[in-house]
Amino acid sequence: ASRERLLVVANRLPVSAVRRGVDSWHLEISVGGLVSALLGVKEFETRWIGWAGVNVPDEIGQRALIKALAEKRCIPVFLDEEIVHQYYNGYCNNILWPLFHYLGLPQEDRLATTRSFQSQFDAYKKANQMFAEVVKEHYVEGDVVWCHDYHLMFLPKCLKERNRKMKVGWFLHTPFPSSEIHRTLPSRSDLLRSVLAADLVGFHTYDYARHFVSACTRILGLEGTPEGVEDQGRLTRVAAFPIGIDSDRFIRALELPQVQDHMKELKERFAGRKVMLGVDRLDMIKGIPQKILAFEKFLEENPNWRDKVVLLQIAVPTRTDVPEYQKLTSQVHEIVGRINGRFGTLTAVPIHHLDRSLDFHALCALYAVTDVALVTSLRDGMNLVSYEFVACQASKKGVLILSEFAGAAQSLGAGAILVNPWNVTEVASSIGYALNMPADEREKRHHHNFVHVTTHTSQEWAATFVSELNDTIVEAQLRT
Ligand code: UDP
Ligand code: G6P
Repeated sequence: ASRERLLVVANRLPVSAVRRGVDSWHLEISVGGLVSALLGVKEFETRWIGWAGVNVPDEIGQRALIKALAEKRCIPVFLDEEIVHQYYNGYCNNILWPLFHYLGLPQEDRLATTRSFQSQFDAYKKANQMFAEVVKEHYVEGDVVWCHDYHLMFLPKCLKERNRKMKVGWFLHTPFPSSEIHRTLPSRSDLLRSVLAADLVGFHTYDYARHFVSACTRILGLEGTPEGVEDQGRLTRVAAFPIGIDSDRFIRALELPQVQDHMKELKERFAGRKVMLGVDRLDMIKGIPQKILAFEKFLEENPNWRDKVVLLQIAVPTRTDVPEYQKLTSQVHEIVGRINGRFGTLTAVPIHHLDRSLDFHALCALYAVTDVALVTSLRDGMNLVSYEFVACQASKKGVLILSEFAGAAQSLGAGAILVNPWNVTEVASSIGYALNMPADEREKRHHHNFVHVTTHTSQEWAATFVSELNDTIVEAQLRT
């Protein structure tokens, strides 16, 4: 049987383009949980529609890029610089992203943000229309159109206005905040209504789904049911679909000679020291300063550990044109420098901070040699780094310290040490607890999480979402 066709529409394509010449492009794998999870989805005939992360003003460049991307089954949406500025840097990453993670609007430019709100929202709608145009060009009757994330909340409506019969799903990769937070958005109703145009709306956790339904009942005055949200007899199905990873890919990678070699190098390099690891995009939501301050407190209170532990922090640069992210970068550098100055010796420093991404194999090796992983997100939709760490720990059985504010706390809570990342004292003592944990407790905790991560995969996540979408549409037809 031929596989079902799936159009995945997301702002970020799985590859980002770097220009090498007038008509030549280099494609790099994009970093982020959305891309990682969707790359693990194999059972559909998938096409991706999205932005390649680069401005291509000229036709020669555009044509060459379309061709290069086609080999990866990707179709670009071309956004000009002004739209990227207002839609991506502005509305998406300066307004929606912090708000959905309970961080509020950036402190210093609150008024400026308030003033530019309307023009940014207009750009957001315009960008969503541009995605809809490209979907229309490539849509074939019967396709499942799966829209992703906070960048594309307007898309379900744009698509359904053109074609009521299109099967449209929308999935949010971030938290959906309490309705009291969503209420503060000037565009609160428009956003909810356009999402509700989808047939199925999905979230990582039951809490996020419940927040969304409450927002629809309180702000729009619609009826919430156990199935979803009803508007004049039409149901939008709302449910939780916790995402996962392609765990086999990680487990298999650890067997590769180059990964084994890399592990050996790392073990030699850090012999005699326990390795603690953080892997995050350099984003405010990841609580990187809080994590590093907790590590400092641990070193302060435990002088005997000072030359026996090292923290490796991979901080992948992200959204670097947004001022808040620039400020965070210098803040983190300042703290790391201060702590290394304070506790470093002529031959060793306690924190290795890297401002760059690692390739897949290097990342796997690092996960595998780690003793304690530190995930301290202030809020996080799910957090796949915690899953990937667990998948790579079959032999080492290291400890995961995990923020209770990450979606993953709901699935890995029994095996991880859960912490409140704002409580530096608590995180510091958890570090001590993790480093001293006896092997039998580590094994028990690891086993619990390993079973979860290897049975709740990204493949299963996608299959469940799409089959629920198909069922929802059949049921809707029966109702009318
Ligand atoms: N990642 C990567 N290269 C790196 C660091 C991270 O590809 O150098 C990937 C990592 O493997 C994970 C994703 O980026 O799959 C991060 O996903 P997560 O859900 O933890 O957070 P997000 O970045 O989506 O907020
Ligand atoms: C999060 C978002 C994704 C996004 C990723 C990387 O995972 O949910 O939609 O792709 O971060 O961010 P970027 O802005 O580089 O796409």
